[in-house]
Amino acid sequence: MKYNDNYDRNIFKRGLAFLYARVYNLFHSVKKEDIEFSDNFEKEIYLRSLKRTDINDHLLTIYRESIEIKPSLIVELGVRGGESTFVFERVAKRFNATLVSVDIENCSKISNYEKWYFVQSDDIEFAKKFKDWCKERDIKPKIDILFIDTSHLYQHTKKEIEYWFPYLSKKAKVFFHDTNINFLFKRKDGSLQNGWDNKRGVIRAIEDFCEKDFNEKVDFEDECKGFKIRHIPYCSGLTILTKKSV
Ligand SMILES: C[S@@+](CC[C@H](N)C(=O)[O-])C[C@H]1O[C@@H](n2cnc3c(N)ncnc32)[C@H](O)[C@@H]1O
Repeated sequence: MKYNDNYDRNIFKRGLAFLYARVYNLFHSVKKEDIEFSDNFEKEIYLRSLKRTDINDHLLTIYRESIEIKPSLIVELGVRGGESTFVFERVAKRFNATLVSVDIENCSKISNYEKWYFVQSDDIEFAKKFKDWCKERDIKPKIDILFIDTSHLYQHTKKEIEYWFPYLSKKAKVFFHDTNINFLFKRKDGSLQNGWDNKRGVIRAIEDFCEKDFNEKVDFEDECKGFKIRHIPYCSGLTILTKKSV
C-alpha cells in the first residue's frame, strides 16, 4: 500500500467518528480496579490514569517498565499537557534522575521537579546539539529512557530513531506512543477515543528499523537488532523496545 505522510483532513469521517465515540462512551463508565501499589507514586499515577485521555491506559505501564531499569537520564519527546511528564517526573524522583522534556511548543510550566529541563525546540534540531547541551550541564549523554510522542508522522519518526538512538545507554528502554491510531481507537475499558489516520506512521518507522512487519492491531512480543519488543494495541498503541542486555 502507498502512504502519503500528510494529515488526513477528511472532516466528514472525523465528525462522524467524534459523534459516534461520544454516544458510545455514554454506555462505558470508568471502573476502578483493585490494585496493590508498590509506592505512592504508582498510586498517584493510577488515580491520574482514571481520567480518559489518548494515553491514560499506558501511564502505569510506563511507570512500571521505567522503574525496572533504574534510570539516570530520561528524555521525553512531546510534552503537551504533561500526561507522560507526570509519570516520568515520578520515575525521575524515585531514582534522583535527570528528566529532559522537549517540545516545539512552550510547556515550561508542566513540572517543578528540580532536575527537570524543558527544551523548547524541534526534537531533531535538539538531537543534533544534545551532546554539547549535556556537556554544558555536566550530564552524561547516555539515555536510559527515551519516550517518543511527537508528530506521529512516518518520516519524522524515522528521523527520531536515526538521531536519538545513538544516545541510548546499554540498558535503555524506548517507548513509542501512537503506534496504533486511527479515527477511532479503543481503550482497555472498551471506551472509544477519537484520533486520526497517521497512515501507520510510527509503527512503519519501527518496522523499517527492525526490518520486520508487525501487526499493531494485536498484542505482540518480538525482538530485533538487540532489542526486546513489547506492543500493546489499545489506547493509540504503545510499543516498548528494551535493550536485551537488561
Ligand atoms: C501527542 S502530544 C504529546 C502528549 C504528551 N506526551 C502527553 O502524554 O500528554 C505531541 C506533542 O509533540 C509536540 N511536537 C510535535 N512535533 C514536534 C517536533 N518536531 N519536535 C518537538 N515536539 C514536537 C507537539 O507540540 C505536542 O505538544
